[in-house]
Amino acid sequence: MPKILLLLLLISSFSYAKKVDAYKEGEILYSSKGCNGCHGMHGEGLNTYPILMNRQKYLLVKKLKFYRGKKGVMNQTAQIMIPFAEHLSDIEISYLSTYLSEFKEALNAPKYDIEYESWGDGGS
Ligand code: HEC
Repeated sequence: MPKILLLLLLISSFSYAKKVDAYKEGEILYSSKGCNGCHGMHGEGLNTYPILMNRQKYLLVKKLKFYRGKKGVMNQTAQIMIPFAEHLSDIEISYLSTYLSEFKEALNAPKYDIEYESWGDGGS
């Protein structure tokens, strides 16, 4: 009898380990796909690039599928998104949108300093 219990415990822990954390996956994808280069480290927006953090998930999904589909009227600004969206799978879009829509403000999370100015001649 204890053996069966042990087996059950083992099986349940395996299925637990396999459960994906959509938020975490999205966070990894967000930087590995280079989204942070334009939208800021956590989607806080950068210059004219739109804010993505804490936006509604369905809207993020809709927009990403729109860019990926390359259908409909797209202005030049929207076309910037095509190369970044066209290779995303449905599940990647879902993870990315989960991460961005549920973004939890990390205390002292690093952000790009848009006020940054370089001084001097760079030593040349
Ligand atoms: C080269 C810069 C650049 C990169 C890299 C980039 N984006 Fe964008 N993104 C833009 C621009 C510009 C827009 C505004 C397009 C428009 O007007 O529709 C945009 C719009 C969006 C929108 C719609 C926002 C809204 O308010 O409608 C989403 C969602 C988005 N990007 C997600 C992503 C994700 C996810 C990635 C990474 C896979 C990514 N972007 C990478 C430039 C970029």
